[in-house]
Amino acid sequence: MNFNFANERPADADAIIFAIANDGLNDFDLGLEQSSTVKASAKAARFGGTPGEVFETFVTEAGEILRVVLTGVGKGKATDAETAGGSAIAKILASGAKHAVIAPSDLGETSLARLLFGAKLRSWRHDKYRTTMPEKQKVTLATITVLDQDIASAKAWQDLSAVADGVALTRELVAEPANTIYPESFVARCEELKDLGVEFTVLGWDEMEKLGMGALLGVSQGSERPPRLLAMRWDGTDGAQKTPLALVGKGVTFDTGGISLKPGAGMEGMKWDMGGAGAVAGTMKALAGRKAKAHVVGVCGLVENMPDGKAQRPGDVVKSMNGQTIEVINTDAEGRLVLCDAMHWTQEIFKPEVMIDLATLTGAMIIALGNEHAGCFSNDDGLAQGLIDAGKDSGDPVWRLPVGPAYDKLINSPIADMKNVGPRGAGSITAAQFLKRFVKDGVKWAHLDIAGMVWADKPNPVWEKGATGYGVRLLNQYVADHFEV
Ligand code: BES
Ligand code: MN
Ligand code: ZN
Repeated sequence: MNFNFANERPADADAIIFAIANDGLNDFDLGLEQSSTVKASAKAARFGGTPGEVFETFVTEAGEILRVVLTGVGKGKATDAETAGGSAIAKILASGAKHAVIAPSDLGETSLARLLFGAKLRSWRHDKYRTTMPEKQKVTLATITVLDQDIASAKAWQDLSAVADGVALTRELVAEPANTIYPESFVARCEELKDLGVEFTVLGWDEMEKLGMGALLGVSQGSERPPRLLAMRWDGTDGAQKTPLALVGKGVTFDTGGISLKPGAGMEGMKWDMGGAGAVAGTMKALAGRKAKAHVVGVCGLVENMPDGKAQRPGDVVKSMNGQTIEVINTDAEGRLVLCDAMHWTQEIFKPEVMIDLATLTGAMIIALGNEHAGCFSNDDGLAQGLIDAGKDSGDPVWRLPVGPAYDKLINSPIADMKNVGPRGAGSITAAQFLKRFVKDGVKWAHLDIAGMVWADKPNPVWEKGATGYGVRLLNQYVADHFEV
């Protein structure tokens, strides 16, 4: 979507969007020849200006047909403005309208920026493989002109626009099928971040083997696609923050389950088993794009989990980089095997005080929280609360679950230091306990199980159904709240 800024309505604009507060329509000056008809029609349709409510009608203006869209902003809260922007765009994206203007409103700069953010997020689509899409489903809207030239250079909008670009990268990585996004192509797709000043380190099989990453490589060994460990570092503090915040993402570009093969039905969804790594990449793009004054490293453990003559077997014992041995009871519990080596390496190289990992780790997480919250597991109350608060403010919600020794003992193995699965109960927690065994003393750590969040079967105000880009808004907010100097 092309965003322009002007002080007057361009002649070719065929739609106009008004942000209307709760019960604010009466007093709002629409400035149209048929203002009173529009208001009366909206009232007749029971439009009240609550967030998410949209009213659409057509008027004649200077002899031409003009589409008028009223979108509710409630009481003007930032998150409500985001909903308003997204809902309005959802309504007209494939409506035939080509050029929409956003009319001046009494929203302040922050809320207007959030409204535009919602519009930008909601205009993202992934239609590239649909060569025979019916005309009427195709996106027609190409340009949005905002009738407020000051917002163009406002930091609030510049920052959110960069965040939306980060979300778009995550969505693309998640939405792309596993024959286009695999470890090497994931790295290649991220390379554009170098232009924003992000520093790359990429490890291949041989380097990881030398480092002793037997857990990650055990997952990878059944695949023809070579693994990658990708580290992206952004320092917006000119060296002032000595140690970075570390983000670590599970990047299983396809999860068949390996020899513990998953059932066929729905397996195609496992193309998004790299959603944690996708969120890390998108966050790095957002932070670098808005030149965040923080030092952050994003590490992605990238592998494909395939069944094969060379694949690891249930019962195999692998040795992780930190020396601990793991009995692989189930080759489908592969995410923790990838993350444990990625997390250990991250701590060795970057010495972070805070480390957050993101992973589509367990189906049990979806059973517990559905598609409404990511699960948060942490050894630090302040970090957990910071993530919960950032979730509320950003629209990427988080709910905390427990960790503790009683759960930890459930993954003891009779033959190795641990096994990679526990009993049936508390599957998301025992997965978190497994990861916790790879967190160094003194490191504040949070694990976000985002299995229910990366893909949506239903559209919402800020996404079409499909990849949501979950995690980017959350981490960006967390960095802004706690790491920016
Ligand atoms: N990637 C899956 C988790 C998953 C499953 C995410 C369904 C979203 C939807 C993960 O690798 C996995 O297979 N986990 C197993 C763990 C089990 C073997 C202990 C699971 O959740 O079934
Ligand atoms: Mn699996
Ligand atoms: Zn998986």
